Amino acid sequence: MKAIICAILLAVLPAVAVAQDEGVKMQSVNVDLSNTASLQRGAKFFVNYCMGCHSARYVRYNSVARDLGLTDTQLEYYLIFTAAKTTDTMVSSMPPADAEKWFGIVPPDLSLESRSRGADWIYTYLKSFYVDPSSKTGVNNTVYPKVSMPDVLWELQGTQKAVFSTVKNPDGSSYQVFDHFEPLTPGRLSPQQFDKLDRDLTSYLVYMGDPVMLKSRSLGLRVIGFLIIFFIIAYLLKREIWKKVH
Ligand code: HEC
Repeated sequence: MKAIICAILLAVLPAVAVAQDEGVKMQSVNVDLSNTASLQRGAKFFVNYCMGCHSARYVRYNSVARDLGLTDTQLEYYLIFTAAKTTDTMVSSMPPADAEKWFGIVPPDLSLESRSRGADWIYTYLKSFYVDPSSKTGVNNTVYPKVSMPDVLWELQGTQKAVFSTVKNPDGSSYQVFDHFEPLTPGRLSPQQFDKLDRDLTSYLVYMGDPVMLKSRSLGLRVIGFLIIFFIIAYLLKREIWKKVH
């Protein structure tokens, strides 16, 4: 019986998630995992702005350092602000019980977030907080309505209001659809600079979700290189052998 309920839940959950996103167009982020500087900045932003609440329990600090080309000293200077050791996983210092008390929900682990939501969703979500006095946190999010996460990047992005348009159904009823944002107060960053920060953060989340992707890319290039060299040798060998036959 439990198995059947689980199966039904699993089938229904994605539909719920899709229903939440309905009507909001995701912006394309075009993550470039070969841009190591962007990943390094993303890691720094993640530690500074996200790890107060979120963990990445499946990711070790020293693997990040290795993959992103950081030395142990740089790792400790830029990424470790707690008593954590370089071999530890990236665990938030906020006790889950406190988080639940404050937000009504434990902030989810973000190690695999890019796999469950996709890069474009994360990128769009992080720039879609808007002022909503009816919400407990004072903000809402067009991509994730009634979200309990506060707008942690507001000082950088500034605040904005969401403008909705009313769509009428043929039967006379109507519903609201998100139309566009209007800036309210400016942030410390320009919209272009904020987009760049958002892209760096999203790229870092994509890297965490699939760290092997970095390695498979460089392995792939080496395999192609090997095949090209092998082809040239085989071709020269073939010419040499057939020269004698003719
Ligand atoms: C003050 C605490 C806090 C901080 C800091 C914070 N978050 Fe959150 N975040 C939350 C909470 C709480 C939720 C759960 C929201 C919900 O489900 O209603 C959440 C949800 C999310 C989600 C959606 C998870 C999902 O799929 O349901 C993403 C993505 C996310 N946060 C990314 C980030 C990133 C990136 C940062 C850093 C820029 C960050 N968060 C900083 C509290 C925080």
